[in-house]
Amino acid sequence: MPSHRAEKIFLAASQPFAVGDHRLCFRHPSNELLCVKVNRQGKAQRLKAAAPFYKRLRSVDSFDDNQIEYRAFQQPAIVRNTPDIWRHIPRCYGWVDTDIGPGLVTDFYAGNNRDTPAMTLERYLQEFGKTPLLSLALGEFAGFLRRYLLLTKNLMPHNLLVLQDAHGQENSQQKEPSLRLVLVDGFGLSTILPMAKYVPAFARRHVEKRLNWLDFRIAWEISDKARSWRDAEKIYTKGRGNIYA
Ligand SMILES: Nc1ncnc2c1ncn2[C@@H]1O[C@H](COP(=O)(O)OP(=O)(O)O)[C@@H](O)[C@H]1O
Ligand SMILES: [Mg+2]
Repeated sequence: MPSHRAEKIFLAASQPFAVGDHRLCFRHPSNELLCVKVNRQGKAQRLKAAAPFYKRLRSVDSFDDNQIEYRAFQQPAIVRNTPDIWRHIPRCYGWVDTDIGPGLVTDFYAGNNRDTPAMTLERYLQEFGKTPLLSLALGEFAGFLRRYLLLTKNLMPHNLLVLQDAHGQENSQQKEPSLRLVLVDGFGLSTILPMAKYVPAFARRHVEKRLNWLDFRIAWEISDKARSWRDAEKIYTKGRGNIYA
């Protein structure tokens, strides 16, 4: 278990800026550039310790998303600490004690309005579709994964943030700022046999599969969604390729 920082912070009374499937995400109370993520069941256990549903959750407590993510942040691609790696993933600063359980501290990415989080890729696709600027950003992100062989689970559009890069604005020829994708969740491997951790050829295959999957997922996101994601993914998994391409 990693050591916690001495400082304790209080989150129980504050509103998370986002609630994911597994975790509550808060701005750090003493540093607005940081984000603190706490497992949802931690809060639930405190609030509803007596409820049978949460007791059931507790019994499968070994499934701790914050712990899994912390470990995934220790993968070689990240700990090698190449400066460029931080262009597409947050820094992970370790643990902080909070009143609703251990909090994992990472960079916070603000949207245009500095008080709200950046838009997810899922939202972006809903609003704008796959714009040429987004295609460029996706190309850069793909190049990044291939270069560093960063190991991730499936790249869900709600786990990728779309940032507007300021440097594009300095160029008067370029009216729109460029976009940059940042992955905020889903680090590590979900496979039982983590060969990709040890064998570069497997890591390369793993990354290609994730990129392919993301391509397909994006195509589905911008389709009319007449087919449910479950059905679409089944077809994809059976190897019938990208039915939306
Ligand atoms: N570092 C961050 N900066 C800005 N927004 C974030 C950050 N991390 C997460 N979010 C937002 O919070 C949501 C939930 O966070 P996530 O880490 O995906 O939680 P979960 O593990 O529960 O899925 C994300 O979909 C994203 O919209
Ligand atoms: Mg998530």
